[in-house]
Amino acid sequence: MRSILKTLSIGLVAVSGLAISNVTVAADGGTLYTQKLCNTCHGADAKTPIQPIYPKLAGQNAEYLAAQTKHIKDKSRSNGQTGTMFPFTMSLNDDDITAISGWIAAQPSDAKEGDIGGAFVDKGCVKCHGADGQSQGAEAKGIAPKLAGQNAEYIIAQTKDIKDGKRTNGNAAEMAGHADVKAITEADIKAVAEAIAK
Ligand code: HEC
Ligand code: HEC
Repeated sequence: MRSILKTLSIGLVAVSGLAISNVTVAADGGTLYTQKLCNTCHGADAKTPIQPIYPKLAGQNAEYLAAQTKHIKDKSRSNGQTGTMFPFTMSLNDDDITAISGWIAAQPSDAKEGDIGGAFVDKGCVKCHGADGQSQGAEAKGIAPKLAGQNAEYIIAQTKDIKDGKRTNGNAAEMAGHADVKAITEADIKAVAEAIAK
C-alpha cells in the first residue's frame, strides 16, 4: 500500500511539474543531500567522509550546519579544504540548505555516551563544548557545535585554524578569544583531538 501511494504521489508530482512548469516541488532534505552530491564527500550516512580531514556531519546541530554551509557558499569561511566543497554550494538556496541541514541533524552520529574527560577537561574545551562534547558548557552561550566522535584530523586542523585566525566566520571569535584556547599548544591540540575522536 505504501509503495503504491509513493508511486502515485511521484506520478502526481511529475504530472503537476509538467502542467505548471514554473512551480517547483520542494524536495526533502535526504533527497537533496544526494541530488546535490553532498554524499560523494561526506558519505551516504553523512559520517563516512572520503578523507579523514573532511568532517563527519551526522547528528550536528541543524542551525550550525546551515550557518557553515552558507558561510562556505559566500566564502566567509574559506579555511582548510573548504575550496573543494565550494562549487557544490553554488546551486543551493536557503530553503535547500535548511532542508538538507535538518536531515543531516537527524542522522545518528558516532558520538559515544558519557563524558570525554582527560585533556578535553584540562584544556578548557569542556567550558563551551560540554562534558560529553555534544552539549553546551557553562560558557557556551548556546552556540557551540558538537564535537564528540568527530575525526581527529579534522578537529586538529579546525582548532588550529580558529586559534590562528584562519577561520573567523560565525562564532569562531568566541572560541579564539578564550584564554584557554589562546594558551593551547600543538601537543595539547593533538591530545584533545584524540580524546574527542574516541
Ligand atoms: C567535494 C567534497 C565535498 C562536497 C561535495 C561537499 N562537501 Fe561539505 N565539506 C567538505 C570539506 C572538505 C569540508 C571541510 C572544509 C575545511 O577544511 O574546513 C566540508 C565542510 C562542510 C560543513 C562544515 C562542517 C562543520 O563541522 O563545520 C558542512 C555543514 C558541509 N560541509 C555540508 C555539506 C553539504 C550540505 C554538501 C552538499 C550540498 C556538501 N557539504 C558537499 C567537502 C565537501
Ligand atoms: C569560549 C567557548 C569555547 C571554548 C572554550 C572552546 N570552543 Fe570550540 N567552538 C566554540 C564555538 C562557538 C564554535 C563554533 C564556531 C563557528 O560558529 O564557526 C567552536 C568550534 C569548534 C570547532 C569546529 C567544529 C567543526 O565542526 O568545524 C572545533 C574543532 C573546536 N571548537 C574545538 C575546540 C577545542 C579542542 C577546544 C579546547 C581547546 C575548544 N573548542 C574550546 C566555542 C568554544
